[in-house]
Amino acid sequence: MSSANDSDRLSEGSADDDVAIFDDAVDTVDAVDTIDIDDVDAIERTAARNPVPSPWLWAVAITLALAAGTWLWNQAFRVSPTPLGRYLADRAAALDTGEPVTDDVLAGLAGDKLSVQAGGEAFARHCVKCHGARGEGHIGPNLTDPFWIEGGAPVDIYNAILLGRNGKGMPAWGLQLGTGACKQIASYLMTIRDTNLPGKPAQGARWGGQR
Ligand code: HEC
Repeated sequence: MSSANDSDRLSEGSADDDVAIFDDAVDTVDAVDTIDIDDVDAIERTAARNPVPSPWLWAVAITLALAAGTWLWNQAFRVSPTPLGRYLADRAAALDTGEPVTDDVLAGLAGDKLSVQAGGEAFARHCVKCHGARGEGHIGPNLTDPFWIEGGAPVDIYNAILLGRNGKGMPAWGLQLGTGACKQIASYLMTIRDTNLPGKPAQGARWGGQR
């Protein structure tokens, strides 16, 4: 057992040895205590002769620049998508199934937080200039009131986005964004419909659920 060996070794040393070790320790402490100004100057001169090597400073500077650049690229200017942005885009692509789009499918997506978030982000990018920041209407109609020009069923809203309104100032988004993103945007619009934000006066007919 090592503890037994240690105590054997301790007891082997003479008392004189212990005193000598103690004296050495005291000398060391005294030496530290008596460092004088000259010593400090000498240390400073030594430090001045040995500055932090510039490769290290460059490494720190480059690391900071990369961090700042990445942040600006992804978050401030959104030049390339963030990981979440890529994930939402992947989900949009996964929704691009070619299956028939029904009111039920869209109602399901309206309950899916990430679908609604992706749709809201796409709305902010592509739609606010005509429909207002919160969908309250501007050039295009108020999307938060219960009035719809060509029906307010989920599929009607989806088709308006996908196909646009030819000749009436509403572009078609299907080719540019894909059907998955159009579904996500429709899911977002279903969360702001009937919130009745003050904005553009009602256009179309009150939607009572009948097509
Ligand atoms: C250049 C302006 C413009 C842009 C950009 C635009 N819209 Fe429109 N939108 C309109 C106009 C104008 C109408 C009304 C068309 C009509 O009279 O039928 C409209 C109609 C709609 C309707 C149907 C409303 C109803 O009452 O029937 C929906 C839904 C809609 N837009 C959603 C969107 C979404 C989502 C986007 C972004 C992806 C978008 N719009 C981008 C101008 C625009």
